[in-house]
Amino acid sequence: MILLTFASSLPQKFIMKKMKVDMNNSQIISNQWRNNQVFVKIAICLILIGFAFRFYFSSSIQISGFIDGDDDGKLPSPQQLVVANFTLSDQSPVNNNRTHEGSTECDVFTGEWIRDATGPRYTNHTCNTIEPHQNCMKNGRPDSDYLYWRWSPTDCNLPPFDPKIFLNFMKNKSMAFIGDSISRNHVQSLLCILSQIEEADEVYHDEEYRSKKWFFKSHNFTLSVIWSPFLTKANIYEDNDGHSMGPIELHLDELDLIWANQFDDYNHIMIAGGKWFMKTAIYYENATIIGCHNCKNENISEIEFEYAYRKSLRTVFDFFTKSNRKVNVLFRSITPDHFENGEWNTGGYCNRTGPFKDGEIDVRDVDMIMRDVELEEFENAKQVIKGLGLRLFDTTRLSLLRPDGHPGPYRVFHPFDGKETDLKVQNDCLHWCLPGPIDWWNDIMMNLLLSG
Ligand SMILES: *[C@@H]1O[C@H](CO)[C@@H](O)[C@H](O)[C@H]1NC(C)=O
Ligand SMILES: *[C@@H]1O[C@H](CO)[C@@H](O)[C@H](O)[C@H]1NC(C)=O
Ligand SMILES: *[C@@H]1O[C@H](CO)[C@@H](O)[C@H](O)[C@H]1NC(C)=O
Ligand SMILES: *[C@@H]1O[C@H](CO)[C@@H](O)[C@H](O)[C@H]1NC(C)=O
Ligand SMILES: *[C@@H]1O[C@H](CO)[C@@H](O)[C@H](O)[C@H]1NC(C)=O
Ligand SMILES: *[C@@H]1O[C@H](CO)[C@@H](O)[C@H](O)[C@H]1NC(C)=O
Ligand SMILES: *[C@@H]1O[C@H](CO)[C@@H](O)[C@H](O)[C@H]1NC(C)=O
Ligand SMILES: *[C@@H]1O[C@H](CO)[C@@H](O)[C@H](O)[C@H]1NC(C)=O
Repeated sequence: MILLTFASSLPQKFIMKKMKVDMNNSQIISNQWRNNQVFVKIAICLILIGFAFRFYFSSSIQISGFIDGDDDGKLPSPQQLVVANFTLSDQSPVNNNRTHEGSTECDVFTGEWIRDATGPRYTNHTCNTIEPHQNCMKNGRPDSDYLYWRWSPTDCNLPPFDPKIFLNFMKNKSMAFIGDSISRNHVQSLLCILSQIEEADEVYHDEEYRSKKWFFKSHNFTLSVIWSPFLTKANIYEDNDGHSMGPIELHLDELDLIWANQFDDYNHIMIAGGKWFMKTAIYYENATIIGCHNCKNENISEIEFEYAYRKSLRTVFDFFTKSNRKVNVLFRSITPDHFENGEWNTGGYCNRTGPFKDGEIDVRDVDMIMRDVELEEFENAKQVIKGLGLRLFDTTRLSLLRPDGHPGPYRVFHPFDGKETDLKVQNDCLHWCLPGPIDWWNDIMMNLLLSG
């Protein structure tokens, strides 16, 4: 083990960090990079930053507790609209030939946002299922430039999402989105685009409207979103407004059965972890407390969230690698937020009206840490995977370039109406407006699904 120091490249956030670096891991990285183009880029990136790590971080990493205490995953129920505190309520593929392991496939995740006068594929009028928190136009967002950009990969042409082709591809099949409210955000976008061809019937929702299921009758296609913010077993103690009533109990080595029990029902899976791991939580392994993140309890040792994230992802990937099912799994990487000059609970805002260009912004510390854990665990799983198809849905970078795509104050209906102008309204700089940049995740998803 050696100690390295590196600085985050985000201008306001020059936070020096000390990290313990496991040299064995660098070895693994150098062995793997020949096999995978994507990973080569990441490896180079890692080397450039002079930064690699394995299991343990020194406790000196300063991570803002920005997600702690909020309530990602909560249904935007009517009462939530008045909660003052920010709530994280939470075929024409490029190459028609199937690509095999090791063959070169266009990297659809590297590119830029280019102006496109076409505009969104749905509006608040044509899609009636946009959740209030993300219905920016309806909520009175004044600018609309953010709707006129298209994701354009550098090395290939990304064919536009075609709902007809997608639904035909999904005939007699089922797909589940598993994760937190960002996954629900994504599925909402998909529903809106698909509604041009077929309006889905909602056939299930849980009590809190966090997990839902839709059925497309004329295509015999079942679409689900399954709320599982940690993917592993978690006891979450929050009231209906998302206020914490005690630390989360997170079992790092046990799957969340809410999705694992119905895993066999699906042909396609889009799964993601995320920012819930930054919350205060007691960590368990073998049903025994191993430590706690952020508990400030002298009787339980502090464990950094990245340990928990890695352990939980490993539990998930272990499940995948042992599966012989012919199921397509897309593993989505972390979604960056764009709070500026503060965090979600300290007046941070996101009022930009256009995308960043490559080089204008860097993935910030916390997201970088999570993404690196994701990429490493994904790569480890890829080495031993059997029947199941596992691919990376690496939307971190392309999403990072869209600070303009969040609701900001327009997470609620006309936030400034009837209020003193200096009254602070809560901003959402994490979820995405619908329509908005997240719609393009579907173009990329379709491209990946149809290319095999
Ligand atoms: C908002 O959060 C603050 C602390 O972050 C808390 O004191 C306050 O009670 C919260 N207000 C509501 C309405 O939840
Ligand atoms: C697909 O593969 C076939 C034979 O393997 C080849 O002739 C054809 O050019 C390929 N098409 C594309 C688009 O790569
Ligand atoms: C819906 O969206 C349009 C723009 O597409 C906007 O002009 C309108 O105000 C929005 N609101 C409602 C309630 O439809
Ligand atoms: C869907 O299932 C029905 C009934 O089993 C079958 O007749 C049909 O061919 C299937 N369609 C596709 C595209 O698999
Ligand atoms: C619908 O799809 C399922 C497989 O997912 C198949 O068993 C069933 O026969 C299909 N039904 C019809 C009416 O095509
Ligand atoms: C949990 O149990 C396994 C096997 O029984 C053991 O290898 C592992 O070290 C245990 N983990 C902890 C944190 O006690
Ligand atoms: C830690 O344990 C001691 C002894 O059991 C107890 O007196 C103390 O209240 C505990 N501290 C906390 C914060 O739980
Ligand atoms: C964003 O808000 C800040 C602070 O209120 C302001 O200084 C800045 O000019 C705003 N930028 C845009 C593009 O509106």
